Amino acid sequence: KSVNHLHRPGFHFQPPKNWINDPNGPVYYKGLYHLFYQYNTKGAVWGNIIWAHSVSKDLVNWEALEPAIHPSKWFDIGGTWSGSITIVPGKGPIILYTGVNKNQTQMQNYAIPEDPSDPYLRKWIKPDDNPIAMPDYTMNGSAFRDPTTAWFSKDGHWRTVVGSRIKHRGIAYIYRSRDFKHWVKAKHPIHSKQSTGMWECPDFFPVSITDFENGLDLDYTGANTKHVLKVSLDITRYEYYTLGKYDLKKDRYIPDGNTPDGWDGLRFDYGNFYASKTFFDYKKNRRVLWGWANESDTVQDDIMKGWAGIQLIPRTVLLDSNKKQLVFWPVEEIESLRGNYIRMNNHNIKMGQRIEVKGITPAQADVEVTFYVGSLEKAEIFDPSFTLKPFELCKIKGSNVTGGVGPFGLITLATPDLEEYTPVFFRVFKNASNHKPKVLMCSDARPSSLKQDQGPLAKDRMYKPSFAGFVDVDMADGRISLRSLIDHSVVESFGALGKTVITSRVYPVKAVQENAHLYVFNNGTQSVTIESLNAWNMQRPLQMN
Ligand code: FRU
Repeated sequence: KSVNHLHRPGFHFQPPKNWINDPNGPVYYKGLYHLFYQYNTKGAVWGNIIWAHSVSKDLVNWEALEPAIHPSKWFDIGGTWSGSITIVPGKGPIILYTGVNKNQTQMQNYAIPEDPSDPYLRKWIKPDDNPIAMPDYTMNGSAFRDPTTAWFSKDGHWRTVVGSRIKHRGIAYIYRSRDFKHWVKAKHPIHSKQSTGMWECPDFFPVSITDFENGLDLDYTGANTKHVLKVSLDITRYEYYTLGKYDLKKDRYIPDGNTPDGWDGLRFDYGNFYASKTFFDYKKNRRVLWGWANESDTVQDDIMKGWAGIQLIPRTVLLDSNKKQLVFWPVEEIESLRGNYIRMNNHNIKMGQRIEVKGITPAQADVEVTFYVGSLEKAEIFDPSFTLKPFELCKIKGSNVTGGVGPFGLITLATPDLEEYTPVFFRVFKNASNHKPKVLMCSDARPSSLKQDQGPLAKDRMYKPSFAGFVDVDMADGRISLRSLIDHSVVESFGALGKTVITSRVYPVKAVQENAHLYVFNNGTQSVTIESLNAWNMQRPLQMN
């Protein structure tokens, strides 16, 4: 079956065809980055899932290897679902993954490389003493999955966290083992929260509260750390995370009071981003995040295209120096794909003005822009009684709705007459009492495509949400920056150096390939200055599977 390339990304990770979902078992081992992922061998919808496997020297160019795991044993014949890798001293890398049996019961299994000295880790064995964890009578056997990378503690135990739920309570169970074979569930879950539903793909890792430049490995035992617990919520299809404290003795995680635990929590990405997973990169001392972006197109069109799903550009993860949230930035290696380059400096944009960024290929580009806003005099007052969520606020205050300071930002994947466009922008409000800014960031897919909706069911309609999040900045120097990685049907945007990240998937009919344009705009009464803008063509990696 042929693959339609009109909206196919140029520099995002993707196999030649078919459906993909979660990134699995990312690891750096013997000079190679490994990425496994959920893959349908037979088509462009979810099903027939195996662990596909690719390796890379640089997180940019990828080589596909044979699949690592596929259903073959009683403990995984109904599915080989998500999981992780742990490098166990003396043994090498070990996969923990969820197997589904013929009765749809989920359990945790392990697999070991046939030859741990092979940097490619081509062949994987599932020992016969699997599974390592079965749901007991207190648990929900159809909601028990996605084991995390395990960590070793001074008390001589390995620990891994597994996602689950009981009724509507989301749960993260913790298991302990001395030998990585016999695992025992701790008496209490490491954490749980009512009314959040199934916790898919939990991720649990430490961050430094004194070093804001390097990542930490899971077994780091120094003081001065906080922990991050991230979960993916299957009902709403988004993730949230909290910062908190991990009490090793009690094996409990307690979120800080100031990071909400539940639907309104912080997110790695406020857009199309799910089932993410981090790993510690020994080569560069950083924690790197992989996340999956599903298509937002109709299922029918996914099938016609012959492919669905991409992995987003890996991002480094650090604690923000305010210690209240994480910050994310595309790994530096991606900059090796930057080609033709143009720049703009000190360019004033008045209200209603739109300036074209010419001289690059707007459908496949990397754009960084720093805006100088200066005074917040004209900023609209942020009404504290506003109970609107960012998403709803962006829906009302779209890119065309005149404001005081903003909306201003980028117009990506646009036709010159704006029949189609995906704006990524800020709108700066201010607090009535102390005049501190309250910054809204939007990535609005509503005007992205002229394609007509096909039918009454969600799967028959394109998903074009007004994704949004607040950006926690004081703008003391009057500046705010925005970077967007644009890749045909992907717009991955980083506000204020990664404080707020939003990814949209869009499918323009006209604004494609060489007919796509890129602009900088301002629809606020106060003029803003493009202090600097750097934009590059992005080249295709030499090898992508
Ligand atoms: C998340 C998820 C996981 C599961 C896998 C199955 O997208 O539902 O919970 O392990 O995908 O493909």
